[in-house]
Amino acid sequence: MGTVIRGGTVVTAADIQQADVLIEGEVVTAIAETIPTDGHQVIDAGGCYVIPGGIDPHTHLDMPFGGTVTADDFRTGTIAAAHGGTTTVIDFALHKKGDTLANAIGTWHGKAEGKAAIDYAFHVMVGDMNEQVMNEIPHIVEDEGVTSFKVFMAYKNNLQVDDETLFRTLRLAAANGALVQVHAENGDVVDVLVRDALAKGHVEPKYHALTRPPEAEGEATERAIRLAEIAQAPLYVVHVTCEQAAEAIGDARKRGLPVFGETCPQYLVCDYSDYERPGFEGAKYVMSPPLRDKSHQTVLWNKLKSGELLAFGSDQCSFNFKGQKELGRNDFSKIPNGAPTIEDRMAILYHHGVNAGRISLNRFVALTSTNNAKLFGLFPRKGTVAVGSDADIVIWDPNAERVISASNHHMNVDNNIFEGMAVRGQPRTVLLRGSVIVDRGQFLGEPGRGRFQRCGKVTATAI
Ligand code: URP
Ligand code: ZN
Ligand code: ZN
Ligand code: ZN
Repeated sequence: MGTVIRGGTVVTAADIQQADVLIEGEVVTAIAETIPTDGHQVIDAGGCYVIPGGIDPHTHLDMPFGGTVTADDFRTGTIAAAHGGTTTVIDFALHKKGDTLANAIGTWHGKAEGKAAIDYAFHVMVGDMNEQVMNEIPHIVEDEGVTSFKVFMAYKNNLQVDDETLFRTLRLAAANGALVQVHAENGDVVDVLVRDALAKGHVEPKYHALTRPPEAEGEATERAIRLAEIAQAPLYVVHVTCEQAAEAIGDARKRGLPVFGETCPQYLVCDYSDYERPGFEGAKYVMSPPLRDKSHQTVLWNKLKSGELLAFGSDQCSFNFKGQKELGRNDFSKIPNGAPTIEDRMAILYHHGVNAGRISLNRFVALTSTNNAKLFGLFPRKGTVAVGSDADIVIWDPNAERVISASNHHMNVDNNIFEGMAVRGQPRTVLLRGSVIVDRGQFLGEPGRGRFQRCGKVTATAI
């Protein structure tokens, strides 16, 4: 017996069609105008869109960071993701100084196994790029199914790499089918500005943003692009927040370079003024790079529409206000960086993008799923509704309304940076490889049912 999703509008990155979808086992086996329902379980999708399950290419679950550990682990984080329509996350395995990449990945398998309610893959967030670590990359790509490596141009004296290291990593990655992801902020400049601010007694959350100006992100993005150009390597710029960086990426793409930019929901709907909230509330919005002046949002939307920004990740990195964000009460530089966003990523892009007429329905699917699958070698097993693909499917009700709030979200954290925001457009039913894991707000899945997904090698022509 299979399952027929009946009467919906199937939307992929390229098409929109009225069609039924047949699922047998874990995959889609037919898509046709009408599929006989005899003997099959039927899920009615009338009035809804049938879209590929979301792929979140940027999460930090159960990760030690900023002197504490992120509040959501693979159980709570993936259950929350499922409620929002996401069926695969690509999480960052944290590599620590002195350790091997293989160990970092092994540790992350231990965190995810038995807990993940949706499928998952890994990038490595490289804590110390050195000779030994570089030598390990070819083997990691071949044997571990991990093909993307994040390096930092920020966090001086901690994670930051110099240009030589970044350049050599880019060259090596290109030769081995791997993709380098950069956190692009000029860490030297930020370090000077942070020390200046603290010396003047400027300790409030807003100084986090004031010491990380958009020019520092633009400069690092431009530099990374030039280094990638010399290395003839593809480049993925994570969490793009501002005009300076987005323009640099757009210009590079116009020159034909394989440069891929990602932005996140928070940069589209939150802004610098959130740091000026009374009390210490601004700490909830402390993330890196920081929220920008509202004027940058228009640029980001335009680049999402034009395809110059191709990827859309949550950068889920949740910390409780009580006990975690409070670590920086007397010093903004000690506020753990990050926010809970895994659950609302798709709803925010849909409401503020599709409903507001800023992006098309196809672009919504490309950004939330298809492009992310292609960039990290998961396509076409993941990232589309097609015969032969995994039946990771969301039945999306474009009329369902919700008010986002920490009081009813599923993330294991006491705050939500989108608190009070009304959104229209919600997942009604979510299927992971053919099994219903969420239906009308009820979680029907099971922690541990998520399966590790090997990423394929990355090519410059992925998209
Ligand atoms: O503030 C952020 N973005 N926290 C997560 C770590 C990172 O740099 O992506
Ligand atoms: Zn090997
Ligand atoms: Zn980062
Ligand atoms: Zn991140």
